[in-house]
Amino acid sequence: MAWPFSPASPPAVRPLRTADAPAVAALHREGFHTGWSVAECEAMLVDPAILGQAIGAGTAVDGFVLSRMAADEAEILTIAVARKRRGGGWGRKLLQAHLGALSGRGVRQLFLEVDEGNAPARALYARVGFEQVGRRQGYYRKPDGSVAAALVLRRALD
Ligand SMILES: CC(C)(COP(=O)(O)OP(=O)(O)OC[C@H]1O[C@@H](n2cnc3c(N)ncnc32)[C@H](O)[C@@H]1OP(=O)(O)O)[C@@H](O)C(=O)NCCC(=O)NCCS
Repeated sequence: MAWPFSPASPPAVRPLRTADAPAVAALHREGFHTGWSVAECEAMLVDPAILGQAIGAGTAVDGFVLSRMAADEAEILTIAVARKRRGGGWGRKLLQAHLGALSGRGVRQLFLEVDEGNAPARALYARVGFEQVGRRQGYYRKPDGSVAAALVLRRALD
């Protein structure tokens, strides 16, 4: 009988732990030009207002997402998937699990900001039902000095 699980198919989503801070900082550095230190990641992971989840086999962190919750609203602070895993549905699985976890905490409206030129992220967010509710001109400053607009997206949760 054929092995039913492809090794490339996305593994389970689990809560982030404080011990994941170095892996989160490394993955954040890989995904964004502004880095987060391990200490900054640790501070977020112990903050009860922040919900963090990881995707990866065993204790590996091949993707993570962090949201800050306030009453029945939350904002995605960041989501990143390791370069070697991109395009394989890991981001979608992670984000869908995150929507469920936030909903379970009583969150009813989820917001985020995304660089207008970030096609992969915009495709991911559209795929899981986010809608544009605003646009902030010149919001991001790139390493080359150029600026880019941020789109503000919203997703209602059940
Ligand atoms: C954005 C990111 C998290 C997506 O993760 P991923 O695991 O590659 O996404 P998935 O494979 O689950 O793809 C989700 C959807 O987006 C689409 N998508 C993914 N990469 C794409 C690309 N390069 N171009 C166009 N669409 C893309 C997929 O086709 C998929 O849609 P589908 O389900 O209809 O096929 C990943 O590219 C990343 O870490 N980027 C760097 C960090 C970043 O920009 N984070 C977002 C900050 S707002």
